[in-house]
Amino acid sequence: MPIVFVPAPLRSLTGGQDRLDVAGATVGALVDAIERAHPGFRARVVADGELRPSLAVSVDGDLVTRGLDEPVAGAREVHFVPALGGGHGPGASDPHDALPPSGTADAYTRIFEARGGSYNAAHALVPEAREIERSLLLDRVDPGPGLRVLDVPAGGGYVADGLRLRRPDLSVVCVEPAAAFAAGIDAGHARVRGALQRLPFGDACFDRVASLAGTHHLEDRLAFFRECRRVLRPGGRFAVADAAADTPVARFLNGPVDRFTTTGHDGRFFAAGEAADLLVRSGFATVVEEHVPYSWIFPDRHTMVRYCGLLFGLVRAREAEVDEAIQAHFTITEDADGRVCLPWSLVYATGVAG
Ligand SMILES: C[S@@+](CC[C@H](N)C(=O)[O-])C[C@H]1O[C@@H](n2cnc3c(N)ncnc32)[C@H](O)[C@@H]1O
Repeated sequence: MPIVFVPAPLRSLTGGQDRLDVAGATVGALVDAIERAHPGFRARVVADGELRPSLAVSVDGDLVTRGLDEPVAGAREVHFVPALGGGHGPGASDPHDALPPSGTADAYTRIFEARGGSYNAAHALVPEAREIERSLLLDRVDPGPGLRVLDVPAGGGYVADGLRLRRPDLSVVCVEPAAAFAAGIDAGHARVRGALQRLPFGDACFDRVASLAGTHHLEDRLAFFRECRRVLRPGGRFAVADAAADTPVARFLNGPVDRFTTTGHDGRFFAAGEAADLLVRSGFATVVEEHVPYSWIFPDRHTMVRYCGLLFGLVRAREAEVDEAIQAHFTITEDADGRVCLPWSLVYATGVAG
């Protein structure tokens, strides 16, 4: 029996419940079953016998193409997500067109498929390690009550989890191209496979877009920024963070991480002013860019080394070599509570959709 996740605006109909165990063979049967228990639900998601054009449905992370007739036998989770496909460019009516095209994007998809499992294992090992990094982004996302927020690329849903901790009433949608990463996304978030330069959503259907550490492998970052602008309503806000060029972080990623992974690492990092420039060229106003230093925090040094090994997939190095590489790039300190601090930094940039 699938779990149907109820989007925040409809929870007043379900007595505040955000997930329902519902029996039914198709999406339409699920809607009918919910209607029997929670009258008024059907009218909010169905019009003229079809799913409302402002909504789409994802079943176990894939957008469905048959609307109410889509079979859901064996499915684990069903989400209603805003306005997928509508208003987008050519081919968007078929959600599978939103998957990465062949060529470089495919190569990156393979790389991320290889790394996703251990990346999520690192977060499970020390869930709070990147807390400052995430908070710096969430402050800039500025998630007000009841807003629709897109986390892209979501990885294992780390930003989405932080958004929900700050505001349980948000509707958060995660876009992640790599299934291995997406497997870590909590079922409470709507989860959609999709390519970053071609988001599978209609125009102006989000209030906020958040993007953490996900742009340095993009061939065409301007295309991604423009997509983020397109899916935001006027006045909506985009907050993006990624590594800055010529910093210890950049040198560590394209140095030891490149050498110690099976897939290599060839990131393109933000030059000074580049993120702001991309935002302006994508149609954002009130643009702010800052390079912010902070730390990743660990209970002890050995855990820091294990975390980095998992997060970056450093399978070609022994722990001692990972430790040595970290020391060669960063000055590790301890805070007043004896916790180990790995100094990190990212460029944080925000813009308001004009
Ligand atoms: C370092 S992770 C960050 C994930 C998450 N935002 C976080 O902060 O934990 C990078 C993410 O970018 C995605 N990604 C970036 N560029 C990509 C590309 N060209 N092709 C496929 N996936 C890409 C990966 O799938 C991965 O989830």
